[in-house]
Parts: sequence; structure tokens; C-alpha cells
Amino acid sequence: MEILKNYDLTKLNTFGVKAFAKFFFELKEEKDLGGLFLSSEFKNNEKLFLGSGSNILFTKDFDGIVILNSLKGISILKEDEDFVYIRALGGEKWHDLVLFSVDNGYWGMENLSLIPGTVGATPVQNIGAYGVEIKDVLENIEAYSIEDGQKKVFSNKECEFGYRESAFKNKLKGKYFISAVVFKLHKKEKKNSDYKALQDYLKENNLEIKTSKDVSDAIIEIRRSKLPNPFVLGNAGSFFKNVYVNEEKLKELLNIFPEMPYFTEPSFTKVSEGKGGMIKIPAGFLIEMCGWKGKKVGNVGVHDKQALVIVNYGGATGEEIKKLSEDIISSVYSKFGLKLEREVNLI
Ligand code: EPU
Repeated sequence: MEILKNYDLTKLNTFGVKAFAKFFFELKEEKDLGGLFLSSEFKNNEKLFLGSGSNILFTKDFDGIVILNSLKGISILKEDEDFVYIRALGGEKWHDLVLFSVDNGYWGMENLSLIPGTVGATPVQNIGAYGVEIKDVLENIEAYSIEDGQKKVFSNKECEFGYRESAFKNKLKGKYFISAVVFKLHKKEKKNSDYKALQDYLKENNLEIKTSKDVSDAIIEIRRSKLPNPFVLGNAGSFFKNVYVNEEKLKELLNIFPEMPYFTEPSFTKVSEGKGGMIKIPAGFLIEMCGWKGKKVGNVGVHDKQALVIVNYGGATGEEIKKLSEDIISSVYSKFGLKLEREVNLI
């Protein structure tokens, strides 16, 4: 067991921001957790469990121990006529698991194709895209208590999922390390293709969905056309969450901004309720209307095809990115009276 010191995290965060960890440990086998939990570096320092660093912004060095989850393995636990239960270890790449599911003809995860990140990190913020959230396919979570090293299984309900929310971001924050996740997928067709952008793409390209792989292929194409590849241009996907409002607030806003898009279709309301109400207002629109889309400020900027995404053009510091996000939050607040929340975790 080797704990490294003063470890460079530049390649371990998709923003590509330079930051150092006081201590660093790569967890390759579950059995090494015992030794890690007993080490003084772990016991006496702040802890940060890291997957692929695709939802994190380092604004400074981390004065504690970073544990990189490299636990790998995908297995089928059980199956019947209708369902298959798949267990994936936390360090598996999320998209590899999606490919495993569609290559085997299972339904449920295909709308979540090409989302960066590791399996263990996905439930923390209840990843979602194109009308599906991870909570829709998650059976349970295996996690270790950081306090006493005991393993516990959390049912879907116990995870308290919401829009980009879970108990692991709230009351259980920093208390558990997610080592594996079990998913329940359909063996028979269970299409979920109502999302407008997906419908538009299928119509434009005259495509018919026959398999979950067809959905996955379409989603991959849509994402590639809108979202920057973090290996080319540093970013962490949506930097902000969408905004949810109630009927009253919506009316008020539409009086002033009649062209504002909002979504109340079943595919959105089905997705967990946001905090402010059930009507979704795309934060991308609000940011675009404030003139930020495609804007570059020094080494950072707002992506020209999706205003929710902040990009590092090279050499940006975490502080620079944070500053840009603060400027965006205040201009959206002055124009619309709506307070954007960050989706990305700031360290
Ligand atoms: N829009 C704009 N300008 C923009 C971007 C969006 O006006 O620059 C408006 C348009 O009206 C568009 C609507 O927003 O029709 C919806 O846009 P899109 O389908 O791109 O989705 P989103 O709501 O902006 C969310 C997720 C994405 C996910 C997509 C697709 C959040 C914070 N983001 O974005 O997730 O891929 O839906 O389902 O909920 C991520 O979390 O990292 C992420 C990329």
C-alpha cells in the first residue's frame, strides 16, 4: 500500500486545472480499504474520493488525502425473464457500463450514454440526460462508512434522489465511500425517446429505434455536436443546474420575457422535482440572454454551442473559472431575478 505525497491532480480533473493533493492513494482493490482506513494519513486528514474528476473544480491545492477510485469489474448478479441485475464497481467508467448494457441488448441506461465520470460518482449527483436519471435504473449502492469502515447497502429510496441531488450530497456528505452500484435493467424493449432534442434528431435523420444501441448511438451523436470533449477542451459538462420555478413565478417572468422557453412536458416532470417548483427553465437560455454564450475571458469562456458549459481554453486556474461563474450568476440574477446554482463541486 503506497500513499504518495504532493501529488499533481492536473490530469485527474476534466477542467485540466493544476492543483496538488497533500496525500494521494489509488484504490485498486476493495481489500486495500482496510489498510487505508487505518493509516494515519487517512485518519488525520480531510478526505476526497475522486472518480474521473468530471464534476469538480479545484480552486486551490487540496490539503488532505485524495483517494482515486480505480476499482474495476462488471458482473451479472441475477436475471429473470424481464430483468437483469448488473453490479459494477465504482471505478468503472460510466460510459463503458452503458456500452456493456446496450451491447447485451438491455434497456434503461442508453439515454445516459457518453456522460463522463465513473460508476461510483454517478449516484452522488443523480446524473441525468435526455429524460432519464440514474435513479430510474439504480437498485442499490454498496458503500463503506468512513468513520468505522463498515460496509452498508443503501436501497434506491434511502439515497433520497432529486434533480442532481442525493443523500450523498446532503446528509451523508463525506460520510460514505461508494464502492459498487447495482442496476436493474429491462430485457424487453423499454424505449424512452420523448425528449425533444432526441425526437428532433431522429426525425431529421429519418431514424427508427429498434434497439437500445440505436438510442445510445443517437445520444452519442447529439452530445458530440453540442458538448465539448474534455480531452480537447477542459470542461465539466453543465456548470450550472437548470432552474425550477412555480406557476406564479413563471407568469411573472413570461410577462417580461415572453420568448423564454420552459418545459412542463411529462418527460421533464417525471424527472424528479426541482427545488423551486415543477417548471423547468433552461439555465442555458438565461445565460445566453445575458450575452455570455461563446464569450471568452482570458483563458476561460462559455461554450459556443451550450451556454451551460464553462471551458478552459488552456492554462486557466480554478479561481479564474470560479470568478467567471460568479459573474454569470450575478448577471442572470440582475436580469431575471433567478439565482443559478452550480452543479460542479468546488474545492
Ligand atoms: N438552451 C439555450 N441556450 C443554450 C443551451 C440551451 O437557449 O445555450 C435552451 C434551449 O431552449 C434548449 C433547452 O435549453 O431547448 C434545453 O437544452 P439541452 O437539451 O441542451 O439541455 P439542458 O437543459 O441545457 C440538461 C443537462 C445536461 C444534459 C441535457 C440533455 C442539466 C444541468 N444539464 O441540459 O447534462 O446532457 O439536459 O438532457 O440538467 C451535465 O449535467 O453535465 C449535462 C451535460
